[in-house]
Amino acid sequence: MSKKILVTGGLGFIGSHTVVELQNEGFEAVIVDNLSNSSEKVLDGIFAITGKRPIFEKFDLRDKQKVQNFFEKHKDVAGVIHFAASKAVNESVEEPLLYYENNLGVLTYILQELVKKDKSNFIFSSSCTVYGQADEMPITENAPVKPAESPYGNTKQVGEEVIKDTCKVNAQLAAIALRYFNPIGAHPSAEIGELPIGVPQNLVPYITQTGAGLREQLSVFGDDYPTTDGTCIRDYIHVVDLAKAHVAAMKRLVEGKNDSNYEVFNLGTGKGSSVLEVIKSFEKVSGAKLNYKIAPRREGDVIQAYADTKKANNILGWKAQSTLDEAMASAWTWEKKIRNI
Ligand code: NAD
Ligand code: WQD
Repeated sequence: MSKKILVTGGLGFIGSHTVVELQNEGFEAVIVDNLSNSSEKVLDGIFAITGKRPIFEKFDLRDKQKVQNFFEKHKDVAGVIHFAASKAVNESVEEPLLYYENNLGVLTYILQELVKKDKSNFIFSSSCTVYGQADEMPITENAPVKPAESPYGNTKQVGEEVIKDTCKVNAQLAAIALRYFNPIGAHPSAEIGELPIGVPQNLVPYITQTGAGLREQLSVFGDDYPTTDGTCIRDYIHVVDLAKAHVAAMKRLVEGKNDSNYEVFNLGTGKGSSVLEVIKSFEKVSGAKLNYKIAPRREGDVIQAYADTKKANNILGWKAQSTLDEAMASAWTWEKKIRNI
């Protein structure tokens, strides 16, 4: 049986780590990426870790004809892991059509090709953002999907609906939507990691860039939330753990072990950490004090979100292994490497 997996956005942050884990498990990864938020150099990092250079085709998945051509050329693709998307929440408010085209248009192009096949397997990058501020912690997969706060969040909600509706009438298509909590960190080899363009919006790259002297000071957005220390709580998951979950999910589909042809899993650690705890973790692993100040709340932030991971633990047979300190240490090692510190 073919072990060829198309990884869209496979040169990006989560995609590159997943390609490594796929290759480690004997899959053959074929990457499609337009380099809109990544670099071809990531291929060298993947090679340095695995000794194997994945096939790479550079094109924009918004080109429907090119998507068709790809599937005609690679008839033996056994599964698709679809990471390619635009992910900046603020930008999505300014440029909603870019987000709807890239995150939903491309999704439909790929599904249109997959339903032509006798059997196909599909994994979608969804997000805990679909839960909004959930009423109960930890958040199970049965928690209601709340109205999206941004066009980006909406693309994940609608994306899930698009896949679910398509699976309903295409029994030969099997799909899993993975709802990521907050992915952080880098491969322990520091050969690959996160490469945010411009000023990072996410907490951990902002912290490591501040530690590295690229940013003067971190603003902690709000310390008057109803939490233990007043700052927001999130479930920070090491990107390598997250990557391994994709391999577990793909194996489930390829081996036909899925219970239905559309399934949803949370991917988190199950542990919530506050912003101040994340800062403390950084200070512990780096041995340096972080320059930060308390700033006003950021619009659209939920107070707390952490996963109930039982479903993924029991059904995918996967569990996040790394601690927050380990994930932070890997993020810091990576930051120092790319800044030559
Ligand atoms: P990323 O930006 O690092 O990776 C996405 C990759 O897709 C990039 O390499 C980019 O060049 C590529 N790409 C984008 N549009 C493309 C197109 N039209 N054609 C070809 N390639 C294209 O992002 P990431 O953090 O690795 O996220 C991967 C997926 O996970 C995304 O769908 C994102 O929405 C989702 N997600 C991310 C997070 C997070 O915090 N990082 C959380 C939840 C969900
Ligand atoms: C974490 C915490 C901030 C930056 C976002 C997207 C979401 C998902 C993941 C894809 C919050 C605080 C942050 C800073 C701070 N992506 N913070 N100072 O908000 O959970 O989610 O990324 O699907 O859609 O919205 O992650 O890393 O931005 O913030 O105090 O400079 O850190 O307020 O409490 P978030 P984040």
